[in-house]
Amino acid sequence: MSEYRLQMHGISKSFPGVKALDKVNLEIRPGTVHALMGENGAGKSTLMKCLFGIYHMDEGEVYVDGEKMDISNPDEALHHGLAMVHQELQPVPDRTIAENMYLGRYPVKKYGPIQVIDHKAMNAEASKWLENVKMPFDPKKKLGDLSISQMQSVEIAKAVSQDAKLIILDEPTSSLTETEVEALFNIVKDLRKRGVSFVYISHKMAEIRQIADDITIMRDGTYVGSWRIEDISDNEIVKQMVGRELTNVYPPLENTPGDVLLEIKGYSSIHERSFQDCSFTLRRGEILGFGGLVGAQRTELMEAIFGMRHTTKGEVLLNGRKITIKRPQDAIRNGIGMITEDRRGTGILGCLSIADNVSIASLDHYLEAGIKLNNKKIEGLVQDNVAKLSIKTPDSKTLIQNLSGGNQQKVIISRWLANNPDVLIMDEPTRGIDVGAKYEIYQIMIGLAKQGKGIIMISSEMPELLGVSNRIMIMCNGKITGEVSGEEATQENVMKYATQF
Ligand SMILES: Nc1ncnc2c1ncn2[C@@H]1O[C@H](COP(=O)(O)OP(=O)(O)OP(=O)(O)O)[C@@H](O)[C@H]1O
Ligand SMILES: [Mg+2]
Repeated sequence: MSEYRLQMHGISKSFPGVKALDKVNLEIRPGTVHALMGENGAGKSTLMKCLFGIYHMDEGEVYVDGEKMDISNPDEALHHGLAMVHQELQPVPDRTIAENMYLGRYPVKKYGPIQVIDHKAMNAEASKWLENVKMPFDPKKKLGDLSISQMQSVEIAKAVSQDAKLIILDEPTSSLTETEVEALFNIVKDLRKRGVSFVYISHKMAEIRQIADDITIMRDGTYVGSWRIEDISDNEIVKQMVGRELTNVYPPLENTPGDVLLEIKGYSSIHERSFQDCSFTLRRGEILGFGGLVGAQRTELMEAIFGMRHTTKGEVLLNGRKITIKRPQDAIRNGIGMITEDRRGTGILGCLSIADNVSIASLDHYLEAGIKLNNKKIEGLVQDNVAKLSIKTPDSKTLIQNLSGGNQQKVIISRWLANNPDVLIMDEPTRGIDVGAKYEIYQIMIGLAKQGKGIIMISSEMPELLGVSNRIMIMCNGKITGEVSGEEATQENVMKYATQF
């Protein structure tokens, strides 16, 4: 029996113009959670895709339980006990939980020459496995009715039902609430006790501390090293990832809020249980944070302000003048931009290039004689943003879907910087973004505020909310329950208002 469940030795992989992996190593012990960390574009997801044969590695060796393997597709990987819960889940929402779990391997019943799916057996099996990982869902429920975290749990149950010994979780908690994270961690801990290993990819240091046994760090496609988690400090992890010491997490707030820029009065949703009677002001040069727990309806309120949702009542005043926003186009015309929380759903245009994705919201700034696009000017804009946000890409023609998750987020941010709005709403702007790049994004936000723009930032990361907001509004159950700034802006005060039912 090998000491390691999985060994990857000297893995290299190039794409046109990028050496994504350069002789990377990874060794996973049985029954452990192994954190895989590195900046955006370091090569974490690519390494896992090589393991599963989704990408064909250029060189390197893979051993499972000491035995050399040549895995050419995910089915084969599963056959050897390796399963992956994807960064982008691709379940079939119209089908039941059981059907999703047994997709491609339905149990069948034979009636003479005819074969039919044995639903009863399938549901019974699914039920057993769901219970096995302590998720007592009804397997006949539609998968689409579950939350993202529950769908992830189903994916894990599916992996376990297929006898997986190593499960890859690639940024599994990026859209989960705190309680959901806890539920996920309980499943992980329970399976770990039963000998299952995990590769855990995340940018959240606190989570790594909570769950990981070992850690491997990558930088720019190279292998930096591996440690037992108790042998390396948080600062050291950051230093190894970034390649230099990072002293400050937040840049100084050098902007000074001025006159009122935007005023929202009595915004109420058409849905009773959504936001009701919300009023607030945003000043020029201000970063206004929005705190609250999940379900507080912050995103819904901002989407309504941006014209993506209907309201029964409410007024918007921009520079003291009443404006009407019925659709996002109205908001954009009035100089309001929004970076949405869910970049995959409403943000990225996967099959277009980076240049198209950056320029799409501001094309009319680049028209010559009102008809022809000035591509040179667009290229200039894109280059400028690629440099400013250090987007890791070979060139601006690269398809956005080929970028790493965090770099896609940076492209979306550039899109709105290019459009140069007076009011920019940012919903969880640093989700999936590594520590170094976060700092750059905060600097850009402060820079915009210094130019007199108003920024609204929804954030579920308490330190970020406190670290980069001039003032914080707090919501709970669809209502604005509090406002804090200066010395009052403390975690306790935010939590007090966030739980004021
Ligand atoms: N299919 C592809 N074609 C071209 N380049 C690619 C492709 N897939 C990945 N890359 C490049 O390989 C590098 C590593 O990307 P990868 O997705 O592995 O990063 P990551 O460490 O997972 O980052 P993140 O934390 O942002 O998710 C990036 O420069 C990326 O642009
Ligand atoms: Mg990734």
